Amino acid sequence: MKIKKTNVALPAIHEMGRKIQQLSAETGLEYLFLQRGINSVVNIDLSEVVKNIDFNSKEIQTYPPSQGRAELREAINNEYFDGKTDISCISICGGGMPGIDNAFQIADVRKIYLPVYHWGNYHNAMKIRKIEYDEYDSFENLKKIIPELKDCAVLLGDPGNPFGNKYDDAEIFELIKKLDDNGTVVFYDSPYRRVFCGKADNFYQRLLEMDNLVILDSFSKSLGLSGQRLGFVHCKNAEFNHEMAVRLAFATNGTNAFAQILVEKLFTTEEGKKAVSDFKATTVAEITKNIKYLKESGLIANEFYNESVPTGIFAIINASEDKLLENRIGSVSLSKFTLSRKEEAAKYSRVCVSIEHKKLVEFFERMMDKK
Ligand SMILES: Cc1ncc(COP(=O)(O)O)c(C=O)c1O
Repeated sequence: MKIKKTNVALPAIHEMGRKIQQLSAETGLEYLFLQRGINSVVNIDLSEVVKNIDFNSKEIQTYPPSQGRAELREAINNEYFDGKTDISCISICGGGMPGIDNAFQIADVRKIYLPVYHWGNYHNAMKIRKIEYDEYDSFENLKKIIPELKDCAVLLGDPGNPFGNKYDDAEIFELIKKLDDNGTVVFYDSPYRRVFCGKADNFYQRLLEMDNLVILDSFSKSLGLSGQRLGFVHCKNAEFNHEMAVRLAFATNGTNAFAQILVEKLFTTEEGKKAVSDFKATTVAEITKNIKYLKESGLIANEFYNESVPTGIFAIINASEDKLLENRIGSVSLSKFTLSRKEEAAKYSRVCVSIEHKKLVEFFERMMDKK
């Protein structure tokens, strides 16, 4: 068979996961899986929530609409937009990644600008779809070239991956507004934001004034449901939404109905709201302690947090991937998150800080004792 090759490698984190599992099996010692991008402090407790789901209903057992179930889109409208958007602007996807991949294909732009340090999946999705790439190294420099970006798109994420850094909302809003006014498409991909806030957060509502903005979100991080593969895309452009529905219909035939009903129940029932709020409270408390500890121990690479605040769920550590691995800590080298600064990035690593505080301290204290 002749194959149309993408020449794209599988994500580095899969390789690291395999390596750590093997080392752990060989040595019988515990390793920390901090290479992953998932909240691992606690699981969201779904036991009371699933009691509200009728598994024998036709809603679960038959095809959902290609743009997603209206009930879930309504629940998202209430939860994220205070009921101020129209559900025709919301499309449900099988996680954040398919939303990103489809949105990148739909927007007719000359190229997409990514941050110099970015989640590798963006660039790989662009490579597979033959979309041209460019990069920006700071908001200040991006602002300087706004007139050149008329027929382009810019990706913004906050808190970002790999840094886990949070900018001031006012600053991000102002930047999006400038780009939007210029006719530049903005992909706002911030699936980590809602780990740290809930319905009271009105940022998405404020973004509703933007015409060229695509909000990309996922329940993998904020609800700890990466296994359910569910996310959503919001855009005010009707043609964009039509194309999204068409692509979802013919590439997926609709997104898992059980996952959609589960998330709807998390937003609309008392049991669901409690499960979400307990999950976030415990998770954020440990993340906060972990970041404080890493900062106070001088392990965080402060040079990456001059204009933003380390928030989670990731942080950049002043140690290479190999050094961390010697100390039984899984991580991903920062060099895997950049195309243009690989050499200088190799001495840093990204770790996930969403794990039990006691565990994180145990492993990093041991590493520092050995110095
Ligand atoms: C920045 C960013 N965006 C989007 C996603 C998509 O997540 P998922 O496809 O699991 O919903 C991830 C996952 O790691 C991510 O780091």
